[in-house]
Amino acid sequence: MRRKIIAGNWKMNLTLAEAKSIASGLAAKSGATKPEVMVFPSSIHLFDVSTILHGTDVVVGSQNAYQSGLTAMTGEISPVQLKEFGVTTSLVGHSERRQFLGETNEILNEKVKFLLSQGFRVIYCIGETLAEREAGNTFNVLGTQIKQGLKGIESSLFEKLIIAYEPVWAIGTGKVATPEQAEEAHAFIRNEVAGLFVGAASVAEAIQILYGGSVKADNIASLLTKPNIDGGLVGGASQKLDSFLSLII
Ligand code: 13P
Repeated sequence: MRRKIIAGNWKMNLTLAEAKSIASGLAAKSGATKPEVMVFPSSIHLFDVSTILHGTDVVVGSQNAYQSGLTAMTGEISPVQLKEFGVTTSLVGHSERRQFLGETNEILNEKVKFLLSQGFRVIYCIGETLAEREAGNTFNVLGTQIKQGLKGIESSLFEKLIIAYEPVWAIGTGKVATPEQAEEAHAFIRNEVAGLFVGAASVAEAIQILYGGSVKADNIASLLTKPNIDGGLVGGASQKLDSFLSLII
């Protein structure tokens, strides 16, 4: 049985005071939540947020990390540095980083591999744009993102891997994928994982696949009824305490 996960991606949206206030509100509810809860604050807030959530069951992760140990790489953050204050979970390949910061499947493959080698749990994000969906390319795009982004990963490391399906047209638009559209994509993704290497069927069965894109209190329940949807990666609705709590309690 795959445990449900609700993960809040705070992007570059909150002030330190706001992030600390949501973290404190989550800490107060720790133990009362049904799914596993994760938050991904801005890097500059990771120390304060992880201090507040230390000892709770809320996982604090980074929105990105560089694919190397300590080295000359101005402006980046190494997983080695993240681990120093207990951060061992990271998002990789969010569509905003793919679209606006030039992250390719090849770069993301390096990130996934390096983070897994450091013992991190990784949420690898994939999803098609509206133009790709309208051109009938959704499954080609998702298949390529899976095959290239997850190339060469040792089977034993898949237990640390989570996939997030985030159709780009649904992110921050209020236009949520229907449960049927999301389920179709999730079933396809699970099947692609099953085809990655000989013996991957059991890995595919176990892997958690989250849906992201305008998840809110009024659509999460219907999405989670679908057999291949194992949780949500939530932007806007995780950035206010009340709406986040309504997704996790
Ligand atoms: P929204 O929930 O604001 O659409 O954002 C989704 C997202 O990008 C989470 O990573």
